[in-house]
Amino acid sequence: MNTPRLDAAIAAMPKVELHMHLEGALEPELLFALAARNGVDIGYATEAELRGAYAFTDLQSFLDLYYAGLRVLRTERDFHEMTLAYLRRARQDNVVHAEVFVSPQAHTRRGIPFEAMFEGIAAALDEGARELGMTAGLILGFQRHLPEEDAFATLRAAERVGDRILGFGMGGAELGNPPSNFTRVFAAARAAGHRVVCHAGEEGPPAYVAEAVDLLKVDRVDHGVRSIEDPALVRRLAESGVPLTVCPLSNVALRVYDRMEDHPLALLLRAGVKVTVNSDDPPYFGGYMTANFLAVRAALALSGAEIRQLAANAVEASFVDAARRAALRAELAAFWDGRALA
Ligand code: ADE
Ligand code: ZN
Repeated sequence: MNTPRLDAAIAAMPKVELHMHLEGALEPELLFALAARNGVDIGYATEAELRGAYAFTDLQSFLDLYYAGLRVLRTERDFHEMTLAYLRRARQDNVVHAEVFVSPQAHTRRGIPFEAMFEGIAAALDEGARELGMTAGLILGFQRHLPEEDAFATLRAAERVGDRILGFGMGGAELGNPPSNFTRVFAAARAAGHRVVCHAGEEGPPAYVAEAVDLLKVDRVDHGVRSIEDPALVRRLAESGVPLTVCPLSNVALRVYDRMEDHPLALLLRAGVKVTVNSDDPPYFGGYMTANFLAVRAALALSGAEIRQLAANAVEASFVDAARRAALRAELAAFWDGRALA
């Protein structure tokens, strides 16, 4: 398949997104509208000025802006609108299933009731997905720069919403906050029957990825790109089939890699690791799902078969039930079958 045809196929391909932070999907226009409605001063005069601040040196420089921005979210309606806006935008990229994160501690610490946050998001995921002909679910992300006891409080709050979540994850400032600090709360989440994922090996070393797998017993690793620095770990990931939810534009925006050409996605994929492509915090990092696929296709010379493999990996790595997985597999197969991949 020639490059223009492959890029058109990438745009049209049905996609599964597994790593996207709802608060990180706030476009400046909505962020300003919510700030005005709630009387929150975000410290930027215009949307253009805010966009101008999207120049990051590392993960922390992004997190500072991310936490400042999410202060505009105050009511159930705000969370609802944020979630619906993301789903609508994702659907334009032909996302047919999305598993998205929220960071409850970033809101409950500001005095926002857990229920207002949760109900706004959950209702939007249900209604929006139905309206758009897609499916979606929510993962609650612990914050690793806060004490494990805070994560336990989130786990307890989540007991009140029962099985309406897909599972738990963990994000925030990675360096100096290893997965091993959260072994007990992840064990408790798993004991309660939840699936678990964890950001590891984004800025942190390969040893953090090994900790997430061995100590937290994660079902997926979020990012995990620095695994490439440890060949034995890459072999283990390939053999065990633990998926990586890789976010290429994020990794370049946060200077994990200077250029997309340096990104290890293709090496990991060709080593047999179950790599997936995702958007992380799309407005902040310059693109949604299609843009992420196009960026790696161009920089790493991925073939049509490799693009198909990446999309199929996400179907297999998702937390859907058997019937939905079968439907997603069939939709992807129907899309690619008949398109010559050579
Ligand atoms: N929270 C939102 N985006 C994140 C990222 N890329 N890494 C860690 N925590 C995050
Ligand atoms: Zn993330």
